[in-house]
Amino acid sequence: MTQRSDIGWRVVEASFETSAAASDGYPVPGPPEIAVAGRSNVGKSSLLNAFCGRRGLARVSRTPGRTRLINFFAVRLRGPGDDLPLRLVDLPGYGFAAADRTTRESFGPMVEGYFSQRATLCGLLLLVDSRRDFGAAEFELLEYMSKRQLPALVCATKIDKLKASERGLVARRLAAKLGVPSKDILLTSSQDRIGLGDDARAGGLAADIATLARGTSS
Ligand code: GTP
Ligand code: MG
Repeated sequence: MTQRSDIGWRVVEASFETSAAASDGYPVPGPPEIAVAGRSNVGKSSLLNAFCGRRGLARVSRTPGRTRLINFFAVRLRGPGDDLPLRLVDLPGYGFAAADRTTRESFGPMVEGYFSQRATLCGLLLLVDSRRDFGAAEFELLEYMSKRQLPALVCATKIDKLKASERGLVARRLAAKLGVPSKDILLTSSQDRIGLGDDARAGGLAADIATLARGTSS
């Protein structure tokens, strides 16, 4: 897990680079990569779009299983006196209810291949729906990152679906499961632009992503 940071950062450039099913299609290793992972339909592609301020950047759908390939996006963050190029990697979701059992229970070869082969992976945004709990898959991904000594940030998504009075509980509940302080769980809504760091002083996701990409916890 990574400690959350409060320094003002924002996205100044974001573009789609390429889609790939396996390592031979990945872009040439370059800037640090932050993987965006989570169950199907949790809101990965929506968060990426909202974060980058580009509605159609990644494809979004009501139907789970929308993202079928690994999608690489080139992003440039601007912070206090510093520009930071990185890649955001939108992964296909897992746990897709309509998939057959073996497909449903596994991340699939695409996601596993990315995590096991990509040396430029430097951090994980693990998305979990605010109304759900961590499952085995989420723990597996966190464990994998911890084994590689890479940081992970948990984002609780679709927080707009909960009443204001219920929102604080989400962070406490998820944090307790991981044994971390509740401030380490980022509450987000792509729909209502919560937690995305629009207010430079409020930190939010941009500052956290900068921290992941720089591989420091400050
Ligand atoms: P896969 O690519 O299938 O793994 O899904 P995904 O995790 O990329 O989810 P996606 O961004 O495609 O969003 C799935 C559905 O959730 C869409 O109908 C979105 O409009 C909706 N959604 C995403 N984020 C939010 C949010 O912050 N609030 C609400 N209310 N709905 C959201
Ligand atoms: Mg998607």
